[in-house]
Amino acid sequence: MNPSSGDQKTINGINTAWWKEAVIYQIYPRSFCDSDGDGVGDLQGIISKLDYLAELGVDVIWLSPVYQSPNDDNGYDISDYYQIMEEFGSMADFDTLMQESKRRDIKIIMDLVVNHTSDEHHWFQEAQKSKDNLYRDYYIWKAPRQSTQGDSSASQPPNNWESIFSGSAWEYHSNTNEYYLHLFSKKQPDLNWENKAVREEVYKLMRFWLDKGIGGFRMDVIPFMSKREGFADIDYENFPDGLAEAYANGPKIHEYLQEMREQVMQHYPAFSVGEGPGISPEVAPLYVDEKRKELDMIFHFDHLQLDRENKDLWQKKDYRLQEFKEIFERWDESVGRKGWGAIYLGNHDTARIVSRFGQDGEHREASAKTLATLMFTQRGTVGIYQGDEIGMTNVQLDDISEFLDIQAINLYQERVVENGEDSAPLLAALNRFGRDNARSPFQWDQSEHSGFTSGTPWQTVNPNYISINAQDNVDSPNSIFHHYKQLITLRRAHSTLVYGDCQILDRENDNVYAYLREDERGKYLILLNFSEHSSEFTHKTIADTENAQLLIGTHGNEGELSSNTVRLAAYESRVYLLADKQ
Ligand code: NOJ
Repeated sequence: MNPSSGDQKTINGINTAWWKEAVIYQIYPRSFCDSDGDGVGDLQGIISKLDYLAELGVDVIWLSPVYQSPNDDNGYDISDYYQIMEEFGSMADFDTLMQESKRRDIKIIMDLVVNHTSDEHHWFQEAQKSKDNLYRDYYIWKAPRQSTQGDSSASQPPNNWESIFSGSAWEYHSNTNEYYLHLFSKKQPDLNWENKAVREEVYKLMRFWLDKGIGGFRMDVIPFMSKREGFADIDYENFPDGLAEAYANGPKIHEYLQEMREQVMQHYPAFSVGEGPGISPEVAPLYVDEKRKELDMIFHFDHLQLDRENKDLWQKKDYRLQEFKEIFERWDESVGRKGWGAIYLGNHDTARIVSRFGQDGEHREASAKTLATLMFTQRGTVGIYQGDEIGMTNVQLDDISEFLDIQAINLYQERVVENGEDSAPLLAALNRFGRDNARSPFQWDQSEHSGFTSGTPWQTVNPNYISINAQDNVDSPNSIFHHYKQLITLRRAHSTLVYGDCQILDRENDNVYAYLREDERGKYLILLNFSEHSSEFTHKTIADTENAQLLIGTHGNEGELSSNTVRLAAYESRVYLLADKQ
């Protein structure tokens, strides 16, 4: 039995577990807090902010990678899984972080990045030495494709696979006249999961961290680990959802995940949440159905795809609130009972949630609060990304030299430098969707560089830190921070908000997202106005509104449910208790 499943108590027919009720807070260590003035966030910086996180009320910290890395992709290119990145501190600092978090009842989960390593990892350093090196088969090497004339000087990559970070997914290695596969940057060679020795190495490093007492793993691009059979060319036309769909769900993925569970995870009181690009709600139960003993949850991407064209993720697409609602509904239907959902709106790879799904001008505060109300009233474990709890917004960068993310840099190189496209629309797209948005330093207070560092920050601080910062949020009882805090407390006190079934009301309403949450313990009504105008919600079907009690609202505690029609202010949200059945 997985010790994390606890005593198998059930609520609403669902096995309860501590991690199902938990709130996860993601830290991108580079951008969180710098303790030593080198301009880069670090572990001591995180330790110094644990009281802030304890006050917010989170249960788990997900640390984006803190392992040794040359930082081609900010730590997602690991050169030693057993060492802490020097810029972030030492293993002693990590151990202190564990102790100090434990003292505050906060668990740490690590980022498990094992689809690929850094090319500076010693396995790859060895592997590239010769074809018969012991580590050669840790990676995926293929001979060049010969031209039809058999002319080896005109050799090509083994197939047409594209890298998610632009260009071919193959890099030529002249010493051994073979190409290696890298689905991400060429400094991130893909590991060969077919090789049992690779899997054993991964299980060993997982045990190393679990033995330190961590609470589990967020697993990077986990559905990509098993590659398509035969390495034939891909007809991308068959994958309308893009590259992720083409690379995910390879033939052995479930075999590997079951093995990982059996060999490692089931022996620890820990949980796993897989990053799930390319996983649809139809396929998801194969990963998270409790009976299959693979992962506990996945972070799906459907809502992050909604405002982007599938064929070109950098093109904006309009969508209706109805579609947004349906995504949450479809996922809850797929994994809400059989497995478990992970509810999040943004992370270190996305635009800021208030700029993307809310409104970061006049209605920034209300919309940031309403997005939080949505997250904390959905079934699933909630994940917050650092800074969203104070309403941090996208950052405007005007020149490509200001973008530091490898994805942005490679894209610009390919489209503007090599293909001669106009730079203005691409810069606009990068400002809208790019990953640098989430990586601007945390805005702690009004002091220089937003209190993030006493040195020169590695990345541009958003100039709006004077008005948007943690200090002001903590000091002001009506702030976004306090709304998050109250929602966390509320969710803890009302288990129906965690385990209850969800029923959408007034589905066609394109301004208001309304739903009931219900189980044997209670019944709740949630109203979220996603419009920048006041909007109406009319309820015809709710019988028990008479004694409705407003538990939390973005616009104060006004708001009786006396008539059938409720008018909500711009981006207002409310949570009502309709029936306490206990
Ligand atoms: C997903 C991570 O979230 C992202 O930041 C990273 O670039 C890729 N995986 C590659 O590791």
